[in-house]
Amino acid sequence: MSRILIIGSEGQLGSELSTFLKKKKNIDDIILSDIKDNSSSDLTYKKLNALNFKDLESLVEDYKIDDIYHLAAILSAKGEVEPMLTWDLNMNSLFNVLNLAKNKTIKKVFWPSSISVFGNNTPKINTNQFSIKEPNTVYGISKLSGERWCEYYNIKYGTDIRSVRFPGIISSNTLPGGGTTDYAVDIFYSFLKDEKYKCFLNQDTMLPMIYIDDAIESINKIMGVKKDSLNIKSSYNLAGFSMTPKMIEIKLKKIKENFIVEYNPDYRQEIADSWPDSIDDISSQNDWGWHAKYDLGKTINEMIRRLENINK
Ligand code: SER
Repeated sequence: MSRILIIGSEGQLGSELSTFLKKKKNIDDIILSDIKDNSSSDLTYKKLNALNFKDLESLVEDYKIDDIYHLAAILSAKGEVEPMLTWDLNMNSLFNVLNLAKNKTIKKVFWPSSISVFGNNTPKINTNQFSIKEPNTVYGISKLSGERWCEYYNIKYGTDIRSVRFPGIISSNTLPGGGTTDYAVDIFYSFLKDEKYKCFLNQDTMLPMIYIDDAIESINKIMGVKKDSLNIKSSYNLAGFSMTPKMIEIKLKKIKENFIVEYNPDYRQEIADSWPDSIDDISSQNDWGWHAKYDLGKTINEMIRRLENINK
């Protein structure tokens, strides 16, 4: 059994990944870390600034870590408010993990990339793995640069880094923060509170999304396959389903007909407009058997069921 470290364990992805791994592994083999003082989990937790190489190195040595899941990052919308901080955190925390993995006993690294690596000149429908990448957000630039470095370390140094390009993640455990796709989570909270939802994107903005269980399963799957089946050494396109705010509004109105959504696009509209409508993930299907299980309807049912349980 490998011992793992999650960096960014208190975030949207990290909180759900730790819950998933807890069911699968010996709890002593899961170490959580984040910049926050405390964790909401009962697993071993160490406060960590991922920009501090020495602290990260000590943590890895003290706990004899085998695999690192490096999930800490500033997302697209917040990244535009704090460009230099975003570049610094997203790139230098990745370099810390890559350099540790290169020189030490780390066996595998998982690092998420994003649909934000694409840009305005990318064909929008069924965007191909190798399509044009001209990101126009600091977040997207950091993810694309990160992908190139992951490939570089994989090939030059034989480090084992695995990655997927996540679409917007829809989840119920922890709210996302600072992303352009966050509306797809926020809307459920307004719906369940019987409040009007003010959407920051226009109603026809089509974006690729994925339900959290599929997102976690993709991490589990890509980390579980043999390294030599992974032909792509940077990051894999990953598809769930695609939707617009209007599509989710219509489905939610079928459940509660007086639910109201008001559309007031802000600066995030420009970011969303630069991203693909839908993703072609044939390389993931072929190389590591990826197939999403959740469509929009199934995602809505699960979100409502889980959020109602949390609020009981
Ligand atoms: N969900 C991310 C964001 O909106 C995209 O990867 O920033």
